[in-house]
Amino acid sequence: MILVKTIDELQHELSKLGANDSLGFVPTMGALHRGHLSLVEQSVANNTHTVVSVFVNPTQFNDPKDLERYPRTLENDLKLLEPSACNIVFAPSAGEVYPEPDLRKFNFGKLEEVMEGAHRPGHFNGVAQVVSKLFAMVNPDKAYFGLKDFQQLAIIKNMVKQLQLRVEIVPCAIIREESGLAMSSRNELLTAEQRENAKIISETLFKAKELMGQKSVEELVKWVLETINKNPFLNVEYFEIVDDEQLQAIKSWDEKNTKVACVAAFCGKIRLIDNIVLN
Ligand code: PAJ
Repeated sequence: MILVKTIDELQHELSKLGANDSLGFVPTMGALHRGHLSLVEQSVANNTHTVVSVFVNPTQFNDPKDLERYPRTLENDLKLLEPSACNIVFAPSAGEVYPEPDLRKFNFGKLEEVMEGAHRPGHFNGVAQVVSKLFAMVNPDKAYFGLKDFQQLAIIKNMVKQLQLRVEIVPCAIIREESGLAMSSRNELLTAEQRENAKIISETLFKAKELMGQKSVEELVKWVLETINKNPFLNVEYFEIVDDEQLQAIKSWDEKNTKVACVAAFCGKIRLIDNIVLN
């Protein structure tokens, strides 16, 4: 495994690949955990070579404090990646990725008007900026994204269509801690007590899936909001049950689409997201 920090170094390494090689790419912001590593494992299993990027992208943080406190643990990330058979770790500086400000404005229509898009203005524009740049730098055959960030995955798929890129986007299952809490770099920022309470978020989603047959959509949404908010450590920012393609709130269980229950909740100052496919 080799660590490169510049685009020149990256492209020098990639130029060694042969015509029959295939390249998998896992973009991350570091502070790696088993969720990230499961993406790397899938890439390693399905490609001859894998690149993992570690870059805390400033343009996707709508809250400067969130950017400041985001964990940066490159040394430990390298230790975790070492046994994974990943070939190249690309950890560029902000100046390398943004030699000048990126002024591009993407339009994702309805996809960015809901949930994360509605609560984090500019977030997905920043994600699209960085991922499109990284795709241009790495030029992978396949790129791996977690279903944990369900809306991000929909945005990336849409961006690939809009830009007519040849990369295949591979969705990967959510990896959870033993308690059920969805793994996240932000979990490291929780106190032990907060972490204990944060598991209520996933517990409530699992229970919601069981209750689906017994309550209307409206009743279930109300029940989830009340159940999570009743915990003094948690405060729901949004909870929505949406269709898996357009991500619009569904009104009735009779609608034919796959339905996904998505939540964002604050645990203290830390914002956590999770989701579950209901059918
Ligand atoms: P980051 O939060 O580091 O996540 C990198 C990838 O790991 C994303 O595709 C995310 O969905 C996936 N991931 C995170 N936690 C996971 C879990 N518990 N189970 C499965 N997959 C998980 O998402 C980003 O970074 C950034 O927005 C990025 C795409 C790198 C652009 O900056």
